Amino acid sequence: MVMELLYQGAESFVYKKEERVIKKRVPKSYRLEEIDGLLRRQRTKREAKVLEKAASFAPQLFSVDIKTASIEMEYVKGILLKDALSSLSNGERSVIAKRIGIIITTLHSKDIIHGDLTTANIILVGERPVLIDFGLSFFSRKLEDKAVDLHLLNQVLEAYHPLEAENFFEMILKGYRPSADLRLRLAKVESRGRYKSRGEL
Ligand SMILES: Nc1ncnc2c1ncn2[C@@H]1O[C@H](COP(=O)(O)OP(=O)(O)OP(=O)(O)O)[C@@H](O)[C@H]1O
Ligand SMILES: [Mg+2]
Repeated sequence: MVMELLYQGAESFVYKKEERVIKKRVPKSYRLEEIDGLLRRQRTKREAKVLEKAASFAPQLFSVDIKTASIEMEYVKGILLKDALSSLSNGERSVIAKRIGIIITTLHSKDIIHGDLTTANIILVGERPVLIDFGLSFFSRKLEDKAVDLHLLNQVLEAYHPLEAENFFEMILKGYRPSADLRLRLAKVESRGRYKSRGEL
């Protein structure tokens, strides 16, 4: 059976086999072996657990093997948001951003924090966003963790998609519909970020 290497990252290898994807976390030589193994297994466990709970907007989970730190899931045929963003029409961008907002609300309402919300971890299937890469996700009820989750996405947009960032994030928030408390917390996290980066100059 043909296995096609889709992606080779620092942490993982992603293969495609028929309509399935196999994501295998590989050892990192600079990390202490014991810690490395622990981390790979923990992230694999996390990813599989959240994939189960996020079935409607994430790849379907087929199987997980903690020992070899590998996950078998549905192959999502689409294009990464990071590669698509600049060529979308305004109308498409608005629909997609709002849908991303709604998806993050759904996650957060289950107290799931993605932990790595970037435009490389969202695949677009037409205008339908699918979230991937849940290895850094965790469970938390805290407003702070939810605000930081959103803030990270905003930072990625500002850094890599400066032309679209402001509008796109605004539309994500339209879909997300933050409570007044969360909005306030997000403003705090944002001003803290700005203060921090000024301090670093
Ligand atoms: N289910 C999937 N369907 C299609 N492509 C996928 C799928 N899962 C991963 N990919 C591709 O592989 C790339 C890397 O996957 P992913 O983001 O999960 O790993 P990673 O960034 O190495 O994660 P980690 O932080 O856990 O090391 C994605 O950007 C995407 O292009
Ligand atoms: Mg990734």
